[in-house]
Amino acid sequence: MIISTRKMFEHAYGKYAVGGYNINNAEQLMGLFKGCMDGKAPFIIQISKGARSYTDKRILEAMIRAADQMWPDSLFAVHLDHGDEATCMDCIESGFYSSVMIDASAEPFEKNIEITKRVVKAAHAKGITVEAELGKLGGVEEHVSVAEADAKLTDPRQVKEFVEKSGCDSLACAIGTSHGAYKFTGSQGLHFEVILQIQKLAPGFPLVMHGSSSVPQDEVQRINAAGGKLKGAKGVDEAQISKAAKMGVTKVNIDTDGRLVWCRVHREHFRDNPENFDLRPPGKVFMAEYAKYIVHKNQVLGSAGQLDAARKFARS
Ligand code: G3H
Ligand code: 13P
Ligand code: ZN
Repeated sequence: MIISTRKMFEHAYGKYAVGGYNINNAEQLMGLFKGCMDGKAPFIIQISKGARSYTDKRILEAMIRAADQMWPDSLFAVHLDHGDEATCMDCIESGFYSSVMIDASAEPFEKNIEITKRVVKAAHAKGITVEAELGKLGGVEEHVSVAEADAKLTDPRQVKEFVEKSGCDSLACAIGTSHGAYKFTGSQGLHFEVILQIQKLAPGFPLVMHGSSSVPQDEVQRINAAGGKLKGAKGVDEAQISKAAKMGVTKVNIDTDGRLVWCRVHREHFRDNPENFDLRPPGKVFMAEYAKYIVHKNQVLGSAGQLDAARKFARS
């Protein structure tokens, strides 16, 4: 069942976080549904602008509708990840997305509010929730490119004003993470003092953590042993993610880890089976391995086992 994030976050706040997992194709979608259903977790399917053109937005929609029918007990939001204003409006008009992210974080404070407010107005008229972003994450993705030097932690003193003026339903905050596989060079981690301060100044307001992949080191080693060159890849410590999930971080975004599982499975498969050229054997392994990863990650987030309670709460 597709729902907005409003009730999801209300149910999760202070207890657990819901995983926001990016998908690009059928294999990722199948693995994601299987993992969330195996571990009985509510979840959020994230579709980026890049994914909407890679697989085509209509194909993604058709696949998700089919998955919803295949797993009628599932509970999830369909969310646009890092949208600009035009893409947000397209998703809102589509009648399919239940949540959108407007990422105007590169704009000055007032302009960010102005743009977010316009998206909120259109979204709320249709019962769709809006995630906004304040602060700048580092890292490089297809449509997200902020140089390390420009990355800036969210100023907790700006949060209340931003939320009140923009009307957004949740807020992505820069709390020390960055997108991609190279997040830290040393022992850096989450800025819990910033999360605490935000919680104090905007109590009960759902926060979102982008750039939350943990870049499992065994995964990196296996990729490198099979010909990869991911030197120095490092992610967010899982214990820190679990801690943040109890501090008002209700959504945790993960994309890179899924790509790493995909890369490891395919590198190992073709290294060990050089005679093979068929996509299905590694595809099958990937779906099973990704489902396993999702089961584990939802345990880390605390969303595992919350499906029935979250569904009951969403209907109340
Ligand atoms: O934060 C961005 C996501 O990881 C999406 O990445 O734009 O390459 O699809 P993408
Ligand atoms: P990662 O690159 O850490 O997986 O973050 C993904 C993300 O924030 C998507 O919006
Ligand atoms: Zn992101």
